Amino acid sequence: MRLIFLGPPGAGKGTMAKVLSKRYNVAHLSTGDLLRANIQARTSLGKEAASFVDNGKLVPDQLVIEMMRQRLREKDAKPGFILDGFPRTTEQAKALDQLLQEEEMEVGHAINFDASDKKIIERLSGRRICGKCGAIYHLKNIPPKQPGICDQCGSALIQRKDDAEDTVRKRLEVYRKETAPLIDYYERQKLLRTVPGDLNVDELDPILKKILV
Ligand code: AP5
Repeated sequence: MRLIFLGPPGAGKGTMAKVLSKRYNVAHLSTGDLLRANIQARTSLGKEAASFVDNGKLVPDQLVIEMMRQRLREKDAKPGFILDGFPRTTEQAKALDQLLQEEEMEVGHAINFDASDKKIIERLSGRRICGKCGAIYHLKNIPPKQPGICDQCGSALIQRKDDAEDTVRKRLEVYRKETAPLIDYYERQKLLRTVPGDLNVDELDPILKKILV
C-alpha cells in the first residue's frame, strides 16, 4: 500500500495516517514530524527549516525533496507507506513522480481530506501532541486519559508553535496557493479520492476502509 495524504492543516491527515499505518503495517512518513524532529535535534536541516515551520511558511522545495528522497529509501518504507504532508507543491509532486519511477514504485491513491475552515480552526486550537512520541490529541475530541500526559508513552503533551491562530491562517493561505493545485494534479493522474475530513474518526474510518479494499 502506497498512499499520498493531501489536505489543509488540521484536516486529520496525521490522525488517520497513524490509524492506517498501524492497521496495514506500512510506514507513516510525515514531513512535518521529520522536520520537527530535525529542529529539536538541531541538525543543519533543522536549523534551516525552523523559521519557515514556526511561521507557517513552506520549507524550500530542495530541502524537503532531499529529506524525502533519503527517507523513502529506508527499509521500513519498502513494504509500503503513507506520505503525510508531502508533496505540497507542484515541484515536489514532480520530484516524487521521478523518485517513484527510479525506485519502480507506484502510488495507489492520493487521498484528499476536504475540511471546512471552521473545523480546522477548532481542531488546531485544541490540538496537543506528545513532545516525545508525536501522538496526536485534541482537548475535546480525542482527549488523553490523564490531562497533559501522553497515553502511549507517559510524556508531557505540548502545543505546536504553529498552531497559534495567526499562524494557522497563514498556513491556510499557503495551502490554498501552493498545495491545493495538487488536487487537479492527482485528478489528472486518476489517483484522487476525496473524503469528508470534517467527520469524526469513527465516521471517516469506514469510508477509508472502502477505498483501500
Ligand atoms: P505538518 O506537520 O505537515 O502540518 P500540516 O499539513 O499543516 O498538517 P497538520 O499536522 O496541522 O494537520 P493534520 O491534517 O495532520 O491534522 P491532525 O491529524 O494533526 O507541517 C508543518 C509545517 O512543516 C508546515 O507548515 C511547513 O512549514 C513544514 N512542511 C511540512 N511538509 C512540508 C513540505 N512538504 N514542504 C515544505 N514544507 C513542509 O489533526 C488536527 C487536530 O484535530 C488534532 O488535535 C486531532 O486530534 C484532531 N482531529 C483530527 N482528525 C479528527 C477527526 N476526524 N475527528 C475529530 N478530531 C480530529
